[in-house]
Amino acid sequence: MGYPQVQMRRLRTSELIRSMVQETRLSPADFVMPLFICPGNGVKAPVGSMPGVYRMSIDNILSECRRIRNLGIRAVLLFGIPESKDETGEVGADKNGIVQQAVRAIKNKFDDDILVITDVCNCEYTTHGHCGVVVNGKIDNQRTIEILAKQALSHVIAGADIVAPSDMMDGRVGAIRKALDSQGFSDTPIMSYAVKYASAFYGPFRDAADCAPKFGDRKTYQMNPANAIEALREVELDLQEGADIIMVKPALSYLDIIHRVKSKFNVPVAAYNVSGEYSMVKAAAQNNWIDENRVIMEILTSIKRAGAGLIISYHADQACELLQEEKF
Ligand code: PBG
Repeated sequence: MGYPQVQMRRLRTSELIRSMVQETRLSPADFVMPLFICPGNGVKAPVGSMPGVYRMSIDNILSECRRIRNLGIRAVLLFGIPESKDETGEVGADKNGIVQQAVRAIKNKFDDDILVITDVCNCEYTTHGHCGVVVNGKIDNQRTIEILAKQALSHVIAGADIVAPSDMMDGRVGAIRKALDSQGFSDTPIMSYAVKYASAFYGPFRDAADCAPKFGDRKTYQMNPANAIEALREVELDLQEGADIIMVKPALSYLDIIHRVKSKFNVPVAAYNVSGEYSMVKAAAQNNWIDENRVIMEILTSIKRAGAGLIISYHADQACELLQEEKF
């Protein structure tokens, strides 16, 4: 049977009908809000390349958590801009480091009302900006994962609910799992940035977190954007090492990867709608070239439709405001 008996447009005739047959619906519970924490008091410094995003000191982070929690967002992903950096990134494991302090402050104030996820990586803590320890111009995998395990453990001791390693070293999930288990934290999940591409879409983030590599690039550890089979292999290995949640990053140029990972593995999949994806929308909107709210909701819906159960996005707060107003 076909036209005229079958008419696809019947279910598009009114807003109510369209809404009734809508397959994918965003909800505040889908989102994780990334936050940049810097030292000091009363600091709320705009990130130039990311309109609407700020680096905040802990006092302001706490008000920000209250604001987004009121919008229904239940999880935050923390990035730290530390007071000082070193050659190996070991400062990242300091129990009084910026992230550790922020975790304690947020957990102290919000307890189980907000889930605190911490990004675990060395690039914010190394003087050269690489995600690993550099020996003779090369990244030393083994030394790096030992340091990452210490950093992850220090976050969990401070109270982090989930750790999210974003460095793309081999074996880091296993090393972190082992470190957590050995200290009695076998209940703490690992959200692995299992599939992280060497992407130009991270540009604005490196501004925000002050972590652009001072030489070379990240192509010896992050993945080639042209590869999909390799992504499945990365996921398989991270799951074997004990990853609980798998992340694909960036999101938009990799919707096919999100879909493939979700179809192949029966695990929760998170997608990171990264800084460059955010800034492009903001720049176009500032020029009145696009309808900002509609574009944001279309993008976020597409990420969920592709298979991501969790969406990490700088648009999360705006999206939740729109959902509250029932505009979408
Ligand atoms: C740290 C890290 C990066 C991002 C998240 N964690 C930067 C990078 O790998 O260069 C990017 C996030 C974004 O662009 O929004 N390794």
